Amino acid sequence: MSKHDIQHGELIERYNANERSNHWVTAISFVLLALSGLAMFHPAMFWLSALFGGGQWMRILHPFIGVVMFVSFAGLVWRFWHHNLIDRGDIQWLTQIGDVLTNREDKLPEVGQYNAGQKMLFFTLLPCMVALMLTGIVVWRRYFSAYFPIDIIRFSVLIHAAAAFVLIAGIIVHIYAAIWIKGTMGAMLHGTVTPGWARRHHPRWFRAIIKSSTRNH
Ligand code: HEM
Repeated sequence: MSKHDIQHGELIERYNANERSNHWVTAISFVLLALSGLAMFHPAMFWLSALFGGGQWMRILHPFIGVVMFVSFAGLVWRFWHHNLIDRGDIQWLTQIGDVLTNREDKLPEVGQYNAGQKMLFFTLLPCMVALMLTGIVVWRRYFSAYFPIDIIRFSVLIHAAAAFVLIAGIIVHIYAAIWIKGTMGAMLHGTVTPGWARRHHPRWFRAIIKSSTRNH
């Protein structure tokens, strides 16, 4: 049986258990990093440090959780990068953003596994993650900062905060889109989508699945 061996009316597998675990490890570490990062960013948000056992523990934990998020995100990139390559249809999709926002998906070029919005987000998250990891090492006082001049450390703090801001804004969009398109959360929670969801939002992906399913029967 193939991953996409479907009978009429059955749910379609979009993510397997490993893919979902990988995604949620990334998401949970992101939330912990955003909370501890905001607490360190401004005194007005320092109260959040109580969630991590106080300021000292938070400062110890933040960079280690950062490494977990980076490695976990690298896993997502390894699994999904080839589905995120931009093609001609994506450019057309972007020029018809009005049809996207008013749910006239029938007018759009056929979307494959991911739409152009998802792909753009993927390529926004990627440089943010790399920047956060690199600058995070430079500002990790306990182990690495001694190897860098103070100007580089100061510049890294700035880039670290800027990359975190873009990442947080990007993930807010990501979560909003996941809730906005009904049935999408289910894909990441239990791994499956309905054939209707697939046909409506990702018709080219849907056709490819039907083809591979009928080939296996
Ligand atoms: C914190 C709450 C989050 C929620 C509720 C959420 C929800 C989802 C959902 C529902 C999907 C499936 C979309 C689809 O199949 O069309 C998805 C895909 C994905 N998510 Fe998240 N996510 C969250 C956080 C994150 C974080 C922090 C990252 C990485 C920094 C991330 C990276 C991804 C990637 C790479 C995909 C695959 C889409 C692609 O490759 O373009 N997610 N997410």
